[in-house]
Amino acid sequence: MNFEWLRRPRRNRSSIQVRNLLQETTLSPSDLIYPIFIKAGISKPEPIESMPGIFRHSLDSLLQECSEVAALGIPAIALFPVIDPIHKTPEAEYALNPDQILYQALKKIKKELPHLLLIADVALDPYTNHGHDGVLNAKGEVDNDATVSLLQRLATIEAQAGADWVAPSDMMDGRVEAIRKALDDANLTETSILAYSAKFASAYYGPFREAVGSSTKAGTGYLDKRSYQLNPANRREALLECQLDEKEGADILMVKPAGPYLDIIRELRNQTLLPIAAYQVSGEYAQIHAAAQNGWLDLEKTRDESLLAIKRAGADMILTYFAKEVARRK
Ligand code: PBG
Repeated sequence: MNFEWLRRPRRNRSSIQVRNLLQETTLSPSDLIYPIFIKAGISKPEPIESMPGIFRHSLDSLLQECSEVAALGIPAIALFPVIDPIHKTPEAEYALNPDQILYQALKKIKKELPHLLLIADVALDPYTNHGHDGVLNAKGEVDNDATVSLLQRLATIEAQAGADWVAPSDMMDGRVEAIRKALDDANLTETSILAYSAKFASAYYGPFREAVGSSTKAGTGYLDKRSYQLNPANRREALLECQLDEKEGADILMVKPAGPYLDIIRELRNQTLLPIAAYQVSGEYAQIHAAAQNGWLDLEKTRDESLLAIKRAGADMILTYFAKEVARRK
């Protein structure tokens, strides 16, 4: 049979050389940010059951981990403190304690590895005994403005301790503007704000909440944050949050989770000139590992495809627990 097709698109996929030349999106270690958990009072790293290969680090093992990350060509880490329940209170006072592990960690890494970019989360959930990202009012609801005042102080201390970027992940109204103002007032004009702008109320945060111990019902990872995090059904509302954070002075906008929200990343890419970060969250990581452990998915191929898809959607950088493994691959 001799057809005379005019267009034969398969010519553009005919060999590895052709495919390489035509590849539109690539994934490199320099696109990645590695999230790291730190915990006071432990002598060796503690594995997190639902996140294979991820540990809660002590101050000592943290430094080793960070040297490894830097040597792999990963430009940045995002630090998450795991706080002893005895320090957790309704008002999250411990967040501002100058001796707490997060500030110690920031100071130590900044001193030893000055070129590794340090990102500190700005939220109160590690420090509240109810697990919410803010403090509560008399009615038991998250109090927006009281929370924002605390976040201003938290972000300022983080920046003073060595954070290059502060990353508000709380979804309170007005917090980007308030934090920018607090940083500028403290002469921290060089500190950037990476805003968790479109952060959805997602079930995919379950393993993270196990890791930091912020779930109210032990083991279930369930904590209702729907009065501040976005409804997964809402695209326009997510874009509005991004627009507001941009107006309030965010340097980089983030979408979180990443994989289930590629449409939001793409639409944001089409409407902003700011850089976009995407967070491939703990549940996205856990589900790939779980399927791979069962022999149902190929770990490396699924991992790489999941990350490439996030880049293709329009993300400039990705926070991912796979960062080290991906960087080792290259
Ligand atoms: C909380 C915070 C969460 C994550 C990062 N910062 C969880 C939450 O909102 O409960 C989730 C990250 C992940 O699942 O990997 N401020």
